[in-house]
Amino acid sequence: VDASRPIGVFDSGVGGLTVLHECLVTLPHEDFVYLGDTGRFPYGQHSLDDLRSFAIEITGWLESQDVKLVVVACNSATAAALPTLQRHFDLPIIGVVTPEAHAAVQATRARRIGVLATVATVESGRYREVIGELDAGVEVTEVACPGLADRIQDGDPYDEAMVAHVREVCAPLRSAAVDTVILGCTHYPLVRPMLQRELGRGVTLVAAAEELAGEVAETLRRKGLGNDDDRRGEYRFACTGDPVAFARTGQRFLQLPLGPVRQLAPSELAAA
Ligand code: DGL
Repeated sequence: VDASRPIGVFDSGVGGLTVLHECLVTLPHEDFVYLGDTGRFPYGQHSLDDLRSFAIEITGWLESQDVKLVVVACNSATAAALPTLQRHFDLPIIGVVTPEAHAAVQATRARRIGVLATVATVESGRYREVIGELDAGVEVTEVACPGLADRIQDGDPYDEAMVAHVREVCAPLRSAAVDTVILGCTHYPLVRPMLQRELGRGVTLVAAAEELAGEVAETLRRKGLGNDDDRRGEYRFACTGDPVAFARTGQRFLQLPLGPVRQLAPSELAAA
């Protein structure tokens, strides 16, 4: 296998750039290809069946770009489609749910974990399942947050409406007295200080980005797929919606220069 090939990363939009950011920090010598399916954002309102077919299409496209590993940097897509993708493709595929569940089970002392996620992710039941496999005695409180990712992406993430929204989704977690909360959606780390203020200092927040970057590095090492570590990696972007909007919003999520963004037609994805 050619270890100099890039790593593929995909998400429903720009949220997965928080995951890519951590991967770029942990693996500065690797190349990355990122696809944001902004034309079909938000994923959280789609059916699990639709999300499975989107994920198959996109992974097929990444495969056509000759990637050596795929990161599903989207909680909704991981929750709906990770096992399907792993059966379908002959590539290592890593998702965001398991690393977070693992970190949360290790962090909780009260054995009460909260999950904030999209409607699709909660509907899939994946967090409850994976946490239960690791510690069947943990009590899980899941809160579906329709509209929260959209508000973070398209609105002012720091206005009063956002504070009210955050307060509303945190209320059931406060009542359940959880001591650990999984930010089960790529967008939620952007309002992390607000969530922490609402939940209190005593609550540990677990986010995908840091957990996942470590898992990608470990997988490359064990499979002997790591690129030379004395080189500087490159990264490039494609999206299915408006590339100008992607570049503008993406910068805020990536916190690094983005460069040109290629627009992919739905037919190109389907063809792959
Ligand atoms: N990447 C998506 C997720 O983590 C963002 C939200 C959405 O597309 O609905 O679920």
